[in-house]
Amino acid sequence: MNEIKNNTVLSGVQPTGDLHIGNYLGAIKNFVSMQNNYNCFFCIVDLHAITVKQDPQILKKNTLEVAATYIASGIDPKKSIVFNQSSISAHAELAWIFNCVTRMGWLNRMTQFKDKAGKDKENASSGLFIYPNLMAADILIYKATHVPVGDDQKQHLELTRDIAQKFNRDFNCESFFPIPEPIIDKDISRIMSLKNGDQKMSKSDPSEYSRINLLDESDEIIKKIKKAKTADIVMPEKLQDVTKLSEINNLLNIYSGFSEIDKQKLITKYKGQNFSVFKSDLSDILVEQIKPITTEIKKLMQDKGYLQEILQDGRNRANEVAQKTINDVYDIVGLFRNET
Ligand code: TYM
Repeated sequence: MNEIKNNTVLSGVQPTGDLHIGNYLGAIKNFVSMQNNYNCFFCIVDLHAITVKQDPQILKKNTLEVAATYIASGIDPKKSIVFNQSSISAHAELAWIFNCVTRMGWLNRMTQFKDKAGKDKENASSGLFIYPNLMAADILIYKATHVPVGDDQKQHLELTRDIAQKFNRDFNCESFFPIPEPIIDKDISRIMSLKNGDQKMSKSDPSEYSRINLLDESDEIIKKIKKAKTADIVMPEKLQDVTKLSEINNLLNIYSGFSEIDKQKLITKYKGQNFSVFKSDLSDILVEQIKPITTEIKKLMQDKGYLQEILQDGRNRANEVAQKTINDVYDIVGLFRNET
């Protein structure tokens, strides 16, 4: 156990609107389970959010809402360090150093930039292009060893590992930065849209029926599951037959992720039946699990002062670690830093 406690976890969520069950299963649920065994830093990545246009007032509200969601989901701000990225200047400082370490060719391969910039690449912010360098800085400023994320962040994590290795090599400081391990859960790391099992569930999907938000009311959850795409067949008997049916496989992953019941057991329970009973049971599980979180988020959002205190305390604790790393980095790179 002691050995594990020496390891450090960092992860982050963008404050860009309603969080959904993909964010919860792919990331936040894992954060909660890791906080007893690791030194944990959970960040609200507001600097990442502004790589695309944000309304300043809504950004502030969303930042507090992510803090509220962390806590409502079970993150204990006494055990874990909860803070917003922009409150610690060392993230942006280290990102600049990494802008000078990362090769253009590495960034050109990032699929998320291509997806987010779309056809109008010329008009995307340069921040969106160098975004993965800031993400690497978020992780490495705390020398994190483990990073729980959804599958869509895998490529950014690989880049982070490359950056850490190149920095250590270029500056002849072997093992200064650890090479962080992604923690990606096989079945729930890529929750798909409820309307199209080949598309990731996403905040930016124009259809509300594509996702279940953590702030959805119970009747909305029931309606969305009722309308979720399935297939004109009955539940197959075997796992390998289900994996070919992307929408059904996705609903089973969601069911299993929230209930902790093994997928094969669920298939055995519903095999040969049409999907109405399955969907009704799935809605029950979702309502039962999500409602307490929704209620707690709403309650916490009534006390913004309390949320700000948590972020301030997190900032103080995170900053101690971040300052030590950035001072060492400046020294390694050959930059003077005037101490006051
Ligand atoms: P973001 O804000 O898009 O998403 C937050 C987390 O939710 C996961 N996720 C999903 N998991 C499963 N199924 C889905 N449909 C789904 N959609 C989102 C994401 O993988 C992520 O773990 N770049 C990151 C934020 C970030 C970060 C970091 C993460 C910035 N710095 C350092 C880890 C470490 C992002 O945009 O996540």
